[in-house]
Order: sequence, then C-alpha cells, then structure tokens
Amino acid sequence: MGLPTGSTPIGMYEELVRLHTKEGLDFSRVRTFNLDEYYGLSPENPLSYNAYMHLNFFRHVNIAPANIHVPDGLIQTDRIAAYCKSYDELIQKLGGLDLTVMGIGRLGHIGFNEPGSPFDSRTRLVDLLEETRIDNSRFFPSLDAVPRQAITMGISTIMGSQTLILLASGGGKADILAKALEGPVTEGIPASILQRHENAIIIADEAAASKLKRRA
Ligand code: F6R
Repeated sequence: MGLPTGSTPIGMYEELVRLHTKEGLDFSRVRTFNLDEYYGLSPENPLSYNAYMHLNFFRHVNIAPANIHVPDGLIQTDRIAAYCKSYDELIQKLGGLDLTVMGIGRLGHIGFNEPGSPFDSRTRLVDLLEETRIDNSRFFPSLDAVPRQAITMGISTIMGSQTLILLASGGGKADILAKALEGPVTEGIPASILQRHENAIIIADEAAASKLKRRA
C-alpha cells in the first residue's frame, strides 16, 4: 500500500521489462501460467489475453516460448473439461505455483471466478457477469463484442500458490477491497478467500485503499 494518488502508476509488465532490459533480470528459468483467457478468442486475436501478454511482456524478455502457458480460448467444447484438468495437472507436475499476481474485479472476482464461485473450484469454463463484461468493454469495440465466457484458473488452483499478490488501483476498487479484506470470508466475494492465505500481499494505491479501516 502507499502509492500516492496522482503519482504515475508504472505498469507491472512495463517495470519487469525495464528490469530485464536495464538491469539484466533473467527470465530464462521462469515458467508462466496465465490466470484466464476469453473463451472464443484465438491467441492471435489482439483482444485476447494471450496477445496482450505477448505484446506487453513476453516478447520483450528472455522467457522461453515453451515455458509460457495461457488457457486456450479456442478449445473445442467437448474437450474443455479434459483441457482444464490438464492445465491444473501441468501446474502440479511443474511443482505448483510459486507466485500468483492478480487483480480484483468490481464485485470481487479473482481470475474470472465471479461471485458464487466455489472456493474448491479448479480451472474451468465460466460465464462472465454482465458487470465484468461492461467493465472490460473498454478494451472492445462494443459491449456485444465482449465474450460471454472465459476459461479461468479456479479459486483452489490460485490458493495453491505459495505467494499471492493482489493489485488494486483506483477508487472504483475501494468498496470491494474493503469488503474482501475486512469483511466475512464468503464465496459471494471470491477475493475474500485471500484472508485465509498465509502469504497474501495486497498492493493498492491510495484511492483503492481509501475505505480500509486498518491501514498499514
Ligand atoms: C483478467 C482478470 C481479472 C482482472 C480484474 C481487474 O485477466 O483475471 O480478474 O484482473 O477484472 O481488472 P482491472 O485491473 O483491469 O480492473
């Protein structure tokens, strides 16, 4: 916590690229698993998370293409369950998640685990709430163009990570951040599960942190 409101936020990927380019931060042994991908978007679609990650991060650092994992937004309907199971299994086979960095949705989603997602959920296909589609429509030509479903890591998959970092910025996240961190732990607010993680770090700017009672 503690970014003064009004300071220019440095994007996380931007900073990682800077650290690589200017200070030699090495990604050669890093493996990544993206939290989610819109269902129905190809990796080449510029609106996919896959394309976003390549454009803003992967192509600028020395990560091996084989070490990059993003859920397949085009997986055939009849293969989704097996595919999602294999995504979780690969994470386990490679030793589990060390660090998971995530945002928080206006209604408390992490990944695309919308309110009501079971805490024991694994990677799966989910329906996006209208609020999520409206919030994310800023990246799309129209609300209609925002996919209605996504493949997301489950809450249990995320909680299996050794360390969690939740990033929140802007006043629009103030209410939900306070509820998630200081209210009851409930599946109605998926991010509230972070209260039960032993090593969860919250990084919020002043505006997002403004409704917290206990401030660092
Ligand atoms: C996106 C994702 C979402 C976002 C969340 C916050 O991959 O998993 O949970 O992190 O909707 O998004 P911003 O930070 O854009 O408000």
